[in-house]
Amino acid sequence: MNDRDELLNRLGPFGQSHVLRFWDRLSESHRTSLASQLARIDFAEISRLYARRGDVADFGRLLERMEPLPAIRLADRAELAAEASSVGLSALAAGRAAAMVVAGGQGTRLGFEHPKGLFPIGPLSRRTLFQIHVEKVLATSRRCGAGLPLFVMTSPATDAETREFLARNDRFGLPAEDLFIFCQGTMPAVSAADGRLLLDAEDHVAESPDGHGGMPAALARSGGLDELARRGIEHILYFQVDNPLAAALDPWFLGLHLLRGAEMSSQVVAKRSPEDRVGNVVSVDGRLHVVEYSDLPDEFAQLRSADGSLMVWAGSIAVHVINVDLLRRSVTDRQALPFHLAHKRVPFLDDEGRRIDPPAPNAIKFERFIFDLMPHARKGLVVEVDPAEAFSPLKNAPGSATDSPQWVRERMIDLHRRWLSDAGVRLSETAAVEISPLWALDADEAARKSARGARVVRPTYFSPDGPVEVDPAALS
Ligand code: UD1
Repeated sequence: MNDRDELLNRLGPFGQSHVLRFWDRLSESHRTSLASQLARIDFAEISRLYARRGDVADFGRLLERMEPLPAIRLADRAELAAEASSVGLSALAAGRAAAMVVAGGQGTRLGFEHPKGLFPIGPLSRRTLFQIHVEKVLATSRRCGAGLPLFVMTSPATDAETREFLARNDRFGLPAEDLFIFCQGTMPAVSAADGRLLLDAEDHVAESPDGHGGMPAALARSGGLDELARRGIEHILYFQVDNPLAAALDPWFLGLHLLRGAEMSSQVVAKRSPEDRVGNVVSVDGRLHVVEYSDLPDEFAQLRSADGSLMVWAGSIAVHVINVDLLRRSVTDRQALPFHLAHKRVPFLDDEGRRIDPPAPNAIKFERFIFDLMPHARKGLVVEVDPAEAFSPLKNAPGSATDSPQWVRERMIDLHRRWLSDAGVRLSETAAVEISPLWALDADEAARKSARGARVVRPTYFSPDGPVEVDPAALS
């Protein structure tokens, strides 16, 4: 396989022979690693994608045919909510669903040097995002009386550290057989000027994760689809690692999905402004689509109905139920998850082997988005949720006005204070509270466990073992 001529025969037709520029000075082991990386790259596909870089998807034409979005608001439908919860709980109890968190992103905007799941977001407990998600899985499985497996998607950048972290912490109590970690694929970055691959080392082509839309393929490759079949799992409860409030596992969500016979269901929030940085869920010709904020033409973003509300109003919070059947179909249907192109800055080695840090975007990266499955679902469903209860994503560095660590912590405190005060607990103005899902999974459970009229005067973490006062000065 380390035959240079053989490699040149493969690379030549695609104009990529330059990646062997440093071959003569590579050691045998470096040659092997470069050759095995090249063996994984589909050069024909890269050429095809680069050739079509000018075909911009015409979202304007799609949006011209937009119809009112048939979204359900459970907050206004108490009877439906109760029925959905009971149907969802039965399906969970029968072991028909698995949770899945995507955690392959590099969290560049947050400026944290580890996988985002390791961020200590708990306002008083400093529990990490991973711990909070696992506790929710455990509490849900306790409630439905059946194991709920958790699938974690990593990327080459986050895989080793995530595995080591979860192992070191004994998976925060999740049984080993209920945790399935799998690593997503990568795509090479190419020079925007000429479509040639970029080397980031003499023996390595620059690559990046292929987007969360790489999930079905990665699941198939890693044996995850077989594992789902073996366990008789039909539905994936999907969410992103950055949202500690994600309500993906709430039984009403799966229940509603089942009651409506949907193949893919998505939670949305009402956008606060036309410019919100969220995907936009729209309905066109009876099918649901997500138009990413960066693709939404301004004239559509600004459109308002007669009552002044936004026409493109539904922000995707990337919480979905996805049927395993739909995932399976997407693995074989090449059209289902197309690649999106993004212009990015990618450092590379020049012809002389000098490292260049380009000041401006110089490369094209290829990414797939899981929400592109929506129009392929035989039936889709949109549910509007209250962001105060279900969406406070950690995206931005400390000091940012929103989506920063402090902002997320304040949202968590607000929600948990509300649970307790609705239960009749008297909270002093300054008493921050945080609730572990293993103490109370939701407002109802918090109410059952709280004594009406009880007082909380100091910052208190409601841990799995009960309330513990916390000295805020001790927190970093
Ligand atoms: C994303 C959605 C946006 C949605 C918003 C809600 C995209 C393109 N956009 O925006 O529609 O409104 O979240 O918070 O996703 N990830 C991987 N592998 C990858 C890339 C990302 O696992 O290759 C994971 C990340 O770990 C993260 C999630 O996907 O959990 C979102 O990625 P991010 O890049 O933060 O997306 P946003 O731009 O915030």
